[in-house]
Amino acid sequence: MKIIRAKDYKDMSRKAANIISAQVIMKPNCVLGLATGGTPVGAYAQLVEWYNKGDLDFSEVTTVNLDEYRGLPKEHPESYWSFMHKNLFDHVNIRPEAVHLPDGTNPDAADACAKYNDIIHSVGGIDLQLLGLGPNGHIGFNEPGEAFELETHCVDLTEATIEANKRFFDGNEDLVPKQAYTMGIKTIMQARKVLVVANGLAKAKAVKAVVSGPVTPECPGSILQLHPDCTLVADEEALSLL
Ligand code: F6R
Repeated sequence: MKIIRAKDYKDMSRKAANIISAQVIMKPNCVLGLATGGTPVGAYAQLVEWYNKGDLDFSEVTTVNLDEYRGLPKEHPESYWSFMHKNLFDHVNIRPEAVHLPDGTNPDAADACAKYNDIIHSVGGIDLQLLGLGPNGHIGFNEPGEAFELETHCVDLTEATIEANKRFFDGNEDLVPKQAYTMGIKTIMQARKVLVVANGLAKAKAVKAVVSGPVTPECPGSILQLHPDCTLVADEEALSLL
């Protein structure tokens, strides 16, 4: 795994955005795998800024997001659909039909997941997958203990993830959905390139386990040690235990 050191969140965001924009420039019709959460917000803002300057063109880009809460309507302010539109899609010239997330409104989990797998296969797989890291080492919503060989599937969120995400739901964990549809580790590992972003002391243990711990389902991100083209961009705090 290649590690790129960033001074702070701003620097991490800019470096990550540079890698994403290089992908879009080198292959304008690329498939970007995207992540939600707090970590990539700065990188998305940077991409929007470069788009506004005329340096980036998303007109041929296709996106597939990692995950979506099960049961939240798209229009819910905390759905990942809303997140992606608010932070990126509404501000660049990506075609509405070229953005894809699992359908959290489909109550039939098997059907929702099979349809999402079909979409990922039909666009030809992922050129660059962006990932944040859960404090417990999760990637997407693949929580500790998940099998490495899964594609999109329905998961129960762990207490740790519900706790970490309640800040987006008025601090009330009762309001956090308890399940999600997530791309599986198999799909993530099939991406041609992977870019992981991490910042802050709260991620230091997870970064250490992902980079130098044993490869084990107990730390889902540790599988990335086996990916042939994985880059971690992290700030000093997140790298402080290495
Ligand atoms: C988001 C996702 C999650 C987050 C992770 C880190 O689509 O799949 O794995 O990347 O929970 O979240 P933040 O960035 O909020 O710390």
